[in-house]
Amino acid sequence: MAGNVLITGASGLLGRELVHLLHQRGFEVTAHYHSHLRGGLPGHWIGGDLSTPDAVRSFLRKHAQTLRGCSHFVHAFGPISSKPLGELDADDFLLDFQGNVTAFHLIVQQLLDWGVLRSAVAVGFSDAGKIRPYRKVLTHAVAKNALLLLVLSLAGEHPGIRFNMVSPSTLAGARVVDPDHEPLDAAVAATAIADILEGAGTGIHLRVTPDHPGGEVAHAL
Ligand SMILES: NC(=O)c1ccc[n+]([C@@H]2O[C@H](COP(=O)([O-])OP(=O)(O)OC[C@H]3O[C@@H](n4cnc5c(N)ncnc54)[C@H](OP(=O)(O)O)[C@@H]3O)[C@@H](O)[C@H]2O)c1
Repeated sequence: MAGNVLITGASGLLGRELVHLLHQRGFEVTAHYHSHLRGGLPGHWIGGDLSTPDAVRSFLRKHAQTLRGCSHFVHAFGPISSKPLGELDADDFLLDFQGNVTAFHLIVQQLLDWGVLRSAVAVGFSDAGKIRPYRKVLTHAVAKNALLLLVLSLAGEHPGIRFNMVSPSTLAGARVVDPDHEPLDAAVAATAIADILEGAGTGIHLRVTPDHPGGEVAHAL
């Protein structure tokens, strides 16, 4: 057995690919969903809201017995607000930050406190690490850049545990599409995530696009 992996957002587009693939690779899968419990997928499914710190703490308390077994973690939940810049308010920033960054941090912290975590992967997006103006997805870019800094910092702080980030470009079938980019097959993104989750490296930010399906290193400690 490769280990027990917690996948947040497992009922989503990328999450469902991850559930199949990591199950095939011999992981015991603990799959998180929010409102769509998907039938026909392997894994032990646990529900919960991860949009606020209190909700994440309650999720961790409620499922403590199951989560204590998780040696691996993929945070595939990551809210995205695509409002135009002029319509954004403080709550949009907070929502994207809490779901992407705070939820990842609280779950990692709990798995570290229990002494069970061996490898964690945060899911970014392909512009993470690039500083440029945005008319839309600004709150998402802010959150994913903060997530990248958090992942690299955790990798520096915990050399015995692997912390990495994988940033796919727009996935085929996504809710929010980028018309300037050729869509990436979600299975390709899932493979890059699974490879780095199981690999020996840490402190790596891998960007995955149709031109670089195996991923190119965007940042490394
Ligand atoms: N899609 C893309 O083109 C793309 C590209 C690059 C990076 N990414 C990143 O990849 C990750 C997955 O994206 P995706 O497109 O697969 O997402 P998705 O299909 O929209 O799925 C969203 C997931 O989040 C869950 N969720 C929704 N609200 C929640 C809440 N309040 N609390 C907890 N979970 C909640 C959903 O659960 P239910 O369905 O059960 O409600 C579902 O599992 C995200 O981090 C995203 O930023 C996506």
